[in-house]
Amino acid sequence: MARRSVLFSPGDDGRKLRKAAALDADVVVYDLEDAVVPDARPAARETVREALSDVVPATPELCVRVNPVGAGAKEDLAVVLDGPAPDSVMLPKVGDAAAVRELASLLEAHGVDCPVLALVESAAGVLHAEAIAAADPTDALVFGAEDLAGDIGATRTADGREVSHARQHVVLAARAAGVSPVDTHYPDFNDPDGLRTDARAAVELGYDGKLAIHPAQVPVINEAFTPDAERVAWARRILNARDAADGGVFVVDGEMVDAPQVTQARRVLERAGIDRD
Ligand code: COA
Ligand code: MG
Repeated sequence: MARRSVLFSPGDDGRKLRKAAALDADVVVYDLEDAVVPDARPAARETVREALSDVVPATPELCVRVNPVGAGAKEDLAVVLDGPAPDSVMLPKVGDAAAVRELASLLEAHGVDCPVLALVESAAGVLHAEAIAAADPTDALVFGAEDLAGDIGATRTADGREVSHARQHVVLAARAAGVSPVDTHYPDFNDPDGLRTDARAAVELGYDGKLAIHPAQVPVINEAFTPDAERVAWARRILNARDAADGGVFVVDGEMVDAPQVTQARRVLERAGIDRD
């Protein structure tokens, strides 16, 4: 299932929660962590549970971001899971694989077995990304640049060079484990051009999707993570030439092509939702 756009909505705002579920986001994340001040969390848990009972089943994947294990996850689930279960749960500030397993045990105690989207946003999380991605319950590895910058003492820059190593490492860890990598959000929701550039960079790095914080970001992200006609045509040319070729090496557009390009072409068509062997 595609996770191109992953839209956050604050858990204490019932209006936004319902609105988010009706948008075109692939995943909607009802947030009980940083979008909600601690004093408002008890009420927000109820608000999220009520919104889930109104919108389940909905078209987008419905996810709830709980607080870290040992810092509210248990209390969040006790209220939220007293109603229709979400499709997935996002765990923030994951520092090691044990945190994901502990969350899965908490879910199991409520009879819920759902995918976990693990948010890697600390130095420890990035360094342990491989094990976090490989943990059984993990279904996506999400990169969080803002918290990471705070954790490592970096200053955010326009080109993001201070987080580029971590951003690439998360893709490698996710792919090695066969789960999907989802890129950090773009904070300026009034800058579609900047978002488009940032999303395209994420596509080039290998990301499957990107976090969003505002409805206006959803179409920009969906478009960036859907291969354009030119890219689809390239992929078709590669696969058609492969079908017509005698051996494993052949030439397309004047360039040598072999197995790696065939894999890339298959991934492009998969992202475009086109069935082709
Ligand atoms: N989910 C659903 N609806 C949203 C939304 C979101 N994330 N962000 C904005 N909207 C809605 C607004 O309610 C408003 O709806 P309306 O026209 O029906 O009244 C409309 O979209 C336009 O919103 P706008 O006025 O441009 O923004 P805002 O000032 O209401 O909200 C933010 C700005 C940043 C507070 C808001 O986008 C937000 O809450 N984002 C998510 C924050 C979050 O969850 N952060 C945690 C993860 S980093
Ligand atoms: Mg965070």
